Amino acid sequence: MFFSKLISSGSYLPQKILTNIELSKMVDTSDEWIVSRTGIKERHIAAEGELTTDLALQAALKALQKANLRSEDIDGIVLATTTPDLVFPSSASILQRKLGATKAFAYDVQAVCSGFIYALFNADSIIRAGRANRILVIGAETFSRILNWQDRNTCVLFGDGAGAVILEKTTENPMEGGSGIIDVQVFTDGNYTDELKTTAGANPYVVMNGSEVFKHAVNNLASVVDIILEKNHLTKEDINWLVPHQANLRIINAMGKKLNLDPSKVVITIDKHANTSAASIPLALDSAFDKIKKGDMVLMEAMGGGFTWGAALFRM
Ligand SMILES: CC(C)(COP(=O)(O)OP(=O)(O)OC[C@H]1O[C@@H](n2cnc3c(N)ncnc32)[C@H](O)[C@@H]1OP(=O)(O)O)[C@@H](O)C(=O)NCCC(=O)NCCS
Repeated sequence: MFFSKLISSGSYLPQKILTNIELSKMVDTSDEWIVSRTGIKERHIAAEGELTTDLALQAALKALQKANLRSEDIDGIVLATTTPDLVFPSSASILQRKLGATKAFAYDVQAVCSGFIYALFNADSIIRAGRANRILVIGAETFSRILNWQDRNTCVLFGDGAGAVILEKTTENPMEGGSGIIDVQVFTDGNYTDELKTTAGANPYVVMNGSEVFKHAVNNLASVVDIILEKNHLTKEDINWLVPHQANLRIINAMGKKLNLDPSKVVITIDKHANTSAASIPLALDSAFDKIKKGDMVLMEAMGGGFTWGAALFRM
């Protein structure tokens, strides 16, 4: 029997920072409103000509370097993004070239803010089936390119960035104390496609029914946390760390409370990079990777457009 374990992580944020104060000169908003409603203080914005695969490349190189691996040691690339460089070829193919990962199959996954959980679902399943030894799983976004910078309801919420992890095949069973992914659960409800989407046609931008998304996020995330624990005969007391999607600090805190976790065990990076969609979990995970002790149980969860949502559970 095979399992997959996370052996390394890396992340990258573009250089340019856009603070709430700067934003309040662009739209009718304030630092106080944004911080109190969302927890966001600033976001990073990709430079002109800097593409999603450029961000992904930097995150991937850091993850490889940390694991002491070369690009050729990777068998596959699964890249979660909503903001690909082009409609096709996939951003994963473009990244494969930039990385020189000549032996890796490569494809994109599109599940918006849940994209990283869906990508893990893919990569973990492939490794469990014995079809690859090492897969680079990435979330990378240039969401700033699909925002309406005149709409204060949405433009204050998002930013650009990338995060990566390397999954490696193992025979250690994470349910028997080994390091590895225990389970990934993913869900979709296409009845809500209109609540969070882009406009159609050329130059699409994000439109969102914020309060509706908020309500469903809290309910769906609470439900998927219960499901993944129950399916694996675990309780919230077994969880040591929560690495949530970084969309709204109030949602994150509600999940931390549900799991009875000490706030220091809830990884929060939303203040520094806002909602980077598929990149937000691996960005948060990378910030805590070295603090998480071997044997600790880590829960990740996300919800996004679709609606899509999901959770992944692993033992470090
Ligand atoms: C968007 C969100 C932060 C709004 O917070 P909220 O507490 O629900 O605020 P409301 O939607 O009730 O809006 C309150 C008021 O603030 C206003 N407002 C909206 N954006 C604003 C901004 N950037 N600055 C100042 N005021 C703003 C609204 O127009 C509204 O004004 P009104 O009462 O006069 O109509 C919140 O709904 C949210 O986080 N939703 C989920 C978003 C999300 O997670 N999206 C991605 C999922 S992956």
